[in-house]
Amino acid sequence: MSKPNFAPLKLFITGPTYIRDEVKQAALLPEFGHRDTENDLRFVPIRANMKKLAGTDGTYELALLLGSGSMAMEASVRSLVADGESILNVSVGAFGDMYYNIAAANGKKAENLKFDYGRAIDLNVLEDKLKSMKPNVVSFTHNETSTGVTNDMKATCALIRQYGAMPLVDGVSIFGGADIDLDNSGAAMYSTATQKALGLPAGFGVAFISPEAEAKAEKVTNKGHHHDITKHLGRARKNQTLTTPNCTLANQMCVQLDYIVNEEGIANRFARHIEMRGMVEKWVDGLDGFDMFAPEGFRSPTVSTVVCPAGVTVAQLKKGVKEALRAEGYLMDPGYGKLNTALESEGRRLVFRIGHMGDITPAMLGEYLAKLEIELKKL
Ligand SMILES: Cc1ncc(COP(=O)(O)O)c(C=O)c1O
Repeated sequence: MSKPNFAPLKLFITGPTYIRDEVKQAALLPEFGHRDTENDLRFVPIRANMKKLAGTDGTYELALLLGSGSMAMEASVRSLVADGESILNVSVGAFGDMYYNIAAANGKKAENLKFDYGRAIDLNVLEDKLKSMKPNVVSFTHNETSTGVTNDMKATCALIRQYGAMPLVDGVSIFGGADIDLDNSGAAMYSTATQKALGLPAGFGVAFISPEAEAKAEKVTNKGHHHDITKHLGRARKNQTLTTPNCTLANQMCVQLDYIVNEEGIANRFARHIEMRGMVEKWVDGLDGFDMFAPEGFRSPTVSTVVCPAGVTVAQLKKGVKEALRAEGYLMDPGYGKLNTALESEGRRLVFRIGHMGDITPAMLGEYLAKLEIELKKL
């Protein structure tokens, strides 16, 4: 086969994200057997470094599920909502809705409590719902990728617990880019993925599981096979995966986590993400007619959503700005599709997103914002 002609685009979308050359090279490391001692050479450090990054001293156990972030979310629903129990899914956007859809598709007694696009969870409204519905389990999104809103995980989990329910958290687009302080988070299970702020290709759903969730899952029936966290934990404790892992990704993950923990440093990584959020806020401040979508205090460190001036259309963003940036070597995100369609139909101003997660540096972001600004000024 002749060499495929794939464009080397710099990804400023919200995942998959930019991958460093060292991580690309790590894909060439030797293949290995996942039930052999060679497996430990990858998964022992992977597991230790992932726990450091999460901020758990080992209270939470980590399982890597072949699949993606929603695989771990589905496992949380299958393993932790018992037959006859109810789940309340709290949504501030498309991925909150996704958690609800997963619960409903698995036949769970589920309700979706929705907040307006661009808003964080209103704890007073949630409290009213907890009082009236009395759910056994509650899910919510830590970082809503469609809107750039970060919910207050600790406060939300604390409220859910006050009403005796078990909190499940989707942290797909923030883990690796912010301090989640897992041991003090209150989450019963925290799901994430490799292809966002960890700066890796997709391939594992990541499940951090508390002892309380583990104990409950042991009693829940109808968990299936791939979605049974009890089975995953059995293998995880042997530093293995339930099914054949993506061995190429495991090699890459081993190299990348060593870089994150021992070269860049965890605190520096989190600070870099906050710095990039600040860069976008400052840049938007200087752009006439543009505003940040998420309210101050709830803005994501990994994805910023920007509101366009009135009159800007989906076609202008998708065909004009996005394609002009492609010609410059960048992949731009013209806004979450369903969100802009909804905003347009309601006569509201449209949004676009800037993914600044993983290993994107402030210098790379600065160059991108300069190019983006030129195109936005043509609107
Ligand atoms: C917040 C959030 N949750 C869940 C998902 C789904 O993750 P995956 O595509 O890894 O299954 C995504 C993907 O963009 C996401 O951003």
